[in-house]
Amino acid sequence: MTSARILGTGSFLPRRVVTNAELALTVDTSDEWIVSRTGIRERRVAAPDETTCDLAERAARQALDAAGCLASDIDLLIVATTTPDRVFPSTACLLQERLGIHGSAAFDVQAVCTGFVYALAIAEKFIRTGGTKRALVVGAETMSRIVDWNDRSTSVLFGDGAGAVVVGASDEPGILSSHLHADGAYKDLLTVSTGVSDRGAGPGHITMRGNEVFRMAVTTLDALVGETLAANDLKQTDIRWLVPHQANIRIIAATAKRLGMTMDQVIVTVDRHGNTSAASIPLAFDTGVRDGRIRRGDVVLMEAFGGGLTWGSVLLRY
Ligand code: COA
Repeated sequence: MTSARILGTGSFLPRRVVTNAELALTVDTSDEWIVSRTGIRERRVAAPDETTCDLAERAARQALDAAGCLASDIDLLIVATTTPDRVFPSTACLLQERLGIHGSAAFDVQAVCTGFVYALAIAEKFIRTGGTKRALVVGAETMSRIVDWNDRSTSVLFGDGAGAVVVGASDEPGILSSHLHADGAYKDLLTVSTGVSDRGAGPGHITMRGNEVFRMAVTTLDALVGETLAANDLKQTDIRWLVPHQANIRIIAATAKRLGMTMDQVIVTVDRHGNTSAASIPLAFDTGVRDGRIRRGDVVLMEAFGGGLTWGSVLLRY
């Protein structure tokens, strides 16, 4: 049966580094507090004229190169983002135009920090059912645009960046399973509560009930990991790499412990990237591939949790 295999990866980070010490100049925080509670040491912030699509384009071109693919080979383009350039057209359509792709399906997926997992799962289903041969799946964010930089409880957490993969139809095993979930009953735990249609609902920046999100993340991811292993009839030891959403090192460590993994089996970028929402998993995955840790044939578990609430996993053989 046709499988969807990752053919190449890419990523891009804006140039500007914002350290914890720099944030401590403007809000009442410290490097010690941020590192001990979150594991974050620095994050990247896009230049004022740099958009989500700009970051997505750089990551996408690198992924196409790594896959040995031309843009014209792409017949499905999905961008996972919470911070699109425009209300419409979708960032996927803007990216399609930049890459010179014409006529392929192109759309955005909005599942906040779980967005890339959703997008990859959707691409896999398009490929497995036979309609799509090569999909470009991108997670790209400019979270800095929806952060209140005066709010120390959220501004220290987020960053900007993009990651991308090219997924192709293959006879060799690739994506083994995907597991997607959401529960809108928790919509107010982590939100930007104003929008296009509902303009009066609240502030136009991220608000979060951090403690509750933290507890929900740990218990939900614990169950998700169990669900993923059971669906594939796998033992914890069958998984070589954990590529988690990068929100908080303590949440990541709890999931690794649940899997009986040591931290050297986990790709960690949260210290340098902060939480880049939908971009965090493809950024971390590309980091692990490019530095040679993740090798062809390795079994990789991607898992994410975010606003919605949404959560999901993809298990794959690279
Ligand atoms: N610097 C210094 N102090 C801070 C701070 C900061 N950046 N942010 C909050 N504080 C203070 C709080 O005001 C509070 O002070 P108080 O006790 O005087 O009221 C104290 O630190 C403890 O706050 P609390 O929210 O209980 O801290 P915490 O240990 O839960 O850590 C988070 C806060 C945000 C790091 C943690 O809740 C978290 O990581 N949550 C999940 C976030 C997440 O992953 N979100 C994205 C999911 S995709």
